Amino acid sequence: MATILGGITTSHIPAIGAAIAKELEQEPYWQPFFDGYPPVHDWLDEHQPDVAILIYNDHGLNFFLDAVPTFSIGAAEEYHNEDEGWGLRPVPPFPGHPDLSWHLIESVIDDGFDVTMCQDMVVDHGFVVPHLLLWPGNDRPVKIVPVCVNTVLHPLPRPDRCLALGRAIGKAVESFPGDEKVVVLGTGGMSHQLDGERAGFINREFDALCMDAIVDDPEWIANHSILDLVEKAGAQGVEVIQWLMMRGALLGTVTELHRNYHIPISNTGAGLMLLENTR
Ligand code: DHB
Ligand code: FE
Repeated sequence: MATILGGITTSHIPAIGAAIAKELEQEPYWQPFFDGYPPVHDWLDEHQPDVAILIYNDHGLNFFLDAVPTFSIGAAEEYHNEDEGWGLRPVPPFPGHPDLSWHLIESVIDDGFDVTMCQDMVVDHGFVVPHLLLWPGNDRPVKIVPVCVNTVLHPLPRPDRCLALGRAIGKAVESFPGDEKVVVLGTGGMSHQLDGERAGFINREFDALCMDAIVDDPEWIANHSILDLVEKAGAQGVEVIQWLMMRGALLGTVTELHRNYHIPISNTGAGLMLLENTR
């Protein structure tokens, strides 16, 4: 049986990728953000997960507005990033774990979640930036199973369905006949709005409530509608549904080991959390 060691949530702002490429981590603007990560690196070093289930949203790179699946799971041998329109910062590809991907797809469909399956998938900053933050450099020590959530084209999935799919993913991992150690990542958020009259909107108070709730009351977030989340967290702050899905996959006793929060990074309330899962 594969084991879920814990979950990590982090924002995935593209400017972070540029800051890493330009080695700006210790600049005053960036330091309070990057200083959040060493405790997470220590935990990853100590526990050495084999696989990361990386729950994120695509922003128009793999899926454009002509066809957007609500939930999709990658089942490729490896995943490449591509230019998102502001110049490609090439990074080595990310190895997949097709056996675990297919097991997840079969298991969640059997549980009533009719996900789209992707044997080929290019990945954007929602995937690449968190990977570079958690495993800096060009090493690829974990295999990835990407799970992609539509937070771009309305109607978006209901938050309670995201929590339920997360639980189905947790169940699927625990029934995988392997001895893999798995970490589940939820990327995106926290509050931000990139367009319209409220562009620049950040809600520190709501972010703090979400961070507390993600530990021991995920239903509190799940009971919001998407429109509630847009109102409270901003149009793109709805990405917190990926945090919720991550939390759903932690089926054991959940302990918060670390958090960091810093505003603003670009237009966003940048959050980081490390949760341990014990069975
Ligand atoms: C920003 C944040 C995001 O989550 C994103 O996908 C793109 C941009 C930002 O704050 O700049
Ligand atoms: Fe985003």
